[in-house]
Amino acid sequence: MSQTWSQRFDGTLHPAIVEFNASISFDIQLIEYDLDGSIAHAQMLAHTGIISGDEAGQLVAGLQQIRQEHRDGHLPISLDLEDVHFAVEKRLIAIVGDVGKKLHTARSRNDQVGTDTRLYLRAQIDLIRQQLRDWQQVLLHLAKENVETLIPGYTHLQRAQPISLAHHLLAYFEMADRDWERLGDVRKRVNISPLGCGALAGTTLKIDRAFTADLLNFADIYANSLDGVSDRDFVIEFLGAASIIMVHLSRLAEEVIFWATQEAGFIKLTDRCATGSSIMPQKKNPDVAELVRGKTGRVFGHLQAMLTIMKGLPLAYNKDLQEDKEGLFDSVRTVQVCLTAMIVLFQEGLEFQPSRLAAAVNEDFSNATDVADYLVTKQVPFREAYGLVGQVVKTCLLANKLLKDLTLAEWQAIHPAFEDDIYDAIKPRQVVAARNSYGGTGFNQVRKAIDRAAQILLDP
Ligand code: ARG
Repeated sequence: MSQTWSQRFDGTLHPAIVEFNASISFDIQLIEYDLDGSIAHAQMLAHTGIISGDEAGQLVAGLQQIRQEHRDGHLPISLDLEDVHFAVEKRLIAIVGDVGKKLHTARSRNDQVGTDTRLYLRAQIDLIRQQLRDWQQVLLHLAKENVETLIPGYTHLQRAQPISLAHHLLAYFEMADRDWERLGDVRKRVNISPLGCGALAGTTLKIDRAFTADLLNFADIYANSLDGVSDRDFVIEFLGAASIIMVHLSRLAEEVIFWATQEAGFIKLTDRCATGSSIMPQKKNPDVAELVRGKTGRVFGHLQAMLTIMKGLPLAYNKDLQEDKEGLFDSVRTVQVCLTAMIVLFQEGLEFQPSRLAAAVNEDFSNATDVADYLVTKQVPFREAYGLVGQVVKTCLLANKLLKDLTLAEWQAIHPAFEDDIYDAIKPRQVVAARNSYGGTGFNQVRKAIDRAAQILLDP
């Protein structure tokens, strides 16, 4: 077929370079947005009198036909078409004839691809934000059921203080909420139109950039044409936000993997989400959580790649920018499939094991801080109380006892302020219930947190 660029080329591009140069294999994903952008552009050309209303009508009808052909899987696509923009333009000319050659008036693929990428990303951000809300809903639902389920809380992965399982889950609710907010913020800078920036310097023709921006629901237009065609901050920002989402999912995935170990046994994986080993018949593996943890790496990689692509780029468009797409598409997809997988995992893939959890919070010294706090309420300075309880723990360890096993006489030998109520004060349930400072794990606080979380989900 004839070459796509001007007649200064002789059409002898090396086949390896045709393939090397082409982006159509992946940017075909942008086609719906490319068509939207082109339809808006054609309408603007008519609105400004650059082409006639009748011509615009033919262009729009042709573009709509291409949309249908694409959806039906009939649109001709080949490497020598180079990219989605050329593929659409060629097909349009084939459908509507010479008038199709007017579509690219006052436009460059540089502002076109920037427009397409932004329209695509805006739509994907909206989908991901909805998924984050669904994810929050799942966490909230599970939290509501587990306000008084206790689980060891850790620091340094050493048992620290028992907490409400709901409190633990709601920590991830908060992270997801920041992710939702962050993507909303990124969206503001995605939602700016570069259309009409031309190749780099604007155009001599009397276009109306605000008109296309309005049609495409952009909130604003780029003020500087060089910046408009070469800015990919919005891609970097998205990849940053996507990386943080993955950090959050990966942290929880790691906890699931730990919870499912035989050593912890806090959850059992159901057959909905666990897979087996090809050789060890007894195995049930937390593959879903491991894949989420593993897939995090590629999103971080795409962020690094994009930063590196941009760092030495002179203004304005450079072909390097074509490299923005595969990493972006892959990151969008990765975040979406990981959110779906985590939603399924937490809806039907795991079951918390109450007996193992109860045993875990009853059989250690994670109530030691509470003994110190008890003494503080009896006017013993905290640092002194802390020292005394350290001694008690040491004594217990030597005698192979837990704090609850000490007799009142033993307690009083440590400090006369101890009374019979010490036994209640160190019961795990009481220990958790009493942490009623704002944002703490006390059941009343957790119930308030659940109300706040439900309120957040009510706001659109
Ligand atoms: N396929 C190209 C990209 O993705 C479109 C823009 C090409 N512009 C150019 N001047 N070669 O970036």
